[in-house]
Amino acid sequence: MNVRAKNQPQLSSTPNHANATSAFSASNIERIRADFPILQRSIHGKPLVYLDNAASSQMPQQVIDRLAHYQTHEHANIHRGVHTLSQNATTEYENARLKVMNFIGAKESREIIFTHGTTEGINLVMHGYGRRFIGEGDEIIISAMEHHSNIVPWQMLCEEKKARLRIIPMNDAGELLLDEYAKLFNKNTKFVALTHVSNALGTINPVREMIATAHQYGAPVLLDGAQAAPHMAVNVQDLDCDFYVFSSHKMCGPTGVGILYGKAALLEKMQPYQGGGDMILNVTFERTTYNDIPHKFEAGTPAIAAGIGLGAAIDYITAIGLENIAAHEQALLEYASEAARSIPGLKIIGTAQHKAAVLSFILDDIHPHDIGTLLDQEGIAVRAGHHCAQPVMQRFGIPATARASFAFYNTFEEVDALIAGIHTVKKVFA
Ligand code: ALA
Repeated sequence: MNVRAKNQPQLSSTPNHANATSAFSASNIERIRADFPILQRSIHGKPLVYLDNAASSQMPQQVIDRLAHYQTHEHANIHRGVHTLSQNATTEYENARLKVMNFIGAKESREIIFTHGTTEGINLVMHGYGRRFIGEGDEIIISAMEHHSNIVPWQMLCEEKKARLRIIPMNDAGELLLDEYAKLFNKNTKFVALTHVSNALGTINPVREMIATAHQYGAPVLLDGAQAAPHMAVNVQDLDCDFYVFSSHKMCGPTGVGILYGKAALLEKMQPYQGGGDMILNVTFERTTYNDIPHKFEAGTPAIAAGIGLGAAIDYITAIGLENIAAHEQALLEYASEAARSIPGLKIIGTAQHKAAVLSFILDDIHPHDIGTLLDQEGIAVRAGHHCAQPVMQRFGIPATARASFAFYNTFEEVDALIAGIHTVKKVFA
């Protein structure tokens, strides 16, 4: 794995037993928070309590500095120049690819494709694999808790190819029904696309077992890891997923860049997603031959700074440790859930046994947008709405939820502020 950089936070790798509920001691969490300039801000005269990390996380100074250094001293186009700046920028960008490879345990760096984000990664697989290998009468399985990004591309494909979308149902806790999942397979099943962690409910799906089931039927599996990769250790070889997609901006990196991991053998069989520079070996007016993977899927000048910034974000997260991050966020979730359950009229939406640090809720008959707006007045940032997962809302018979989503830099005091804020909302509507 990556070596701890000199300016990374120095954290103990073992849980601090003086504080049984967290992997971080008070001084560790203070040191982490000091890395995030935005966390020092006030909003409406109150200290910012940032609990919208599932939408986008914040960036530590180390990543901001890396971006600024690149733009100030290192920028040039990559894979195209013989001059020093271009060669150095290429090396830095390719180093970022290696960091991603190590971060998710991929076998080879050519299995790592830079995209604009999770959504583009899924669309790339839909075009590159789906349009080539899925045809009339074939079936694609997705789940009832997918983000629109993992529904709409497959719907588009089904419409074009006259294929059929099958949906894995879930129970009232927001857990997928695995018996029903097994029953969806038949000889026509050609692909499975699943979220690793639900953005609206927090459910962590048993993806390893689900992938094994799909493979018994020869169906490749794509995992939407947007809400998983920042919060838990992911090893794509151990999961045996065929594709894994995630975004930089949810894991302390810049917007505009994401990752598609694909098994090399599948990527090689796929057709390119976009035509243009960098994805070709040779072009004549008669015929174009394509570059090798990963470049075959990386047409045009990429978000170079953002890719290098993602590498710095991975260094930062790796220095803290995904195990520590997961343990701390789990402690925050348990503390917050217990406190939320004691608020009359509050109902948590998403009560799966295995959950990431997402607390979606409704409160009396107060519209979630009003909850979000009133919490904002207290300096507390949560997301309110359908979270780009309208079928989840339909399943629970609600239009929307308010959602607090935690990151490793959040504190128990911030949970207290959230709970106090919810009481304030109740008073306003009393
Ligand atoms: N998908 C992101 C969220 O859950 C934007 O908020």
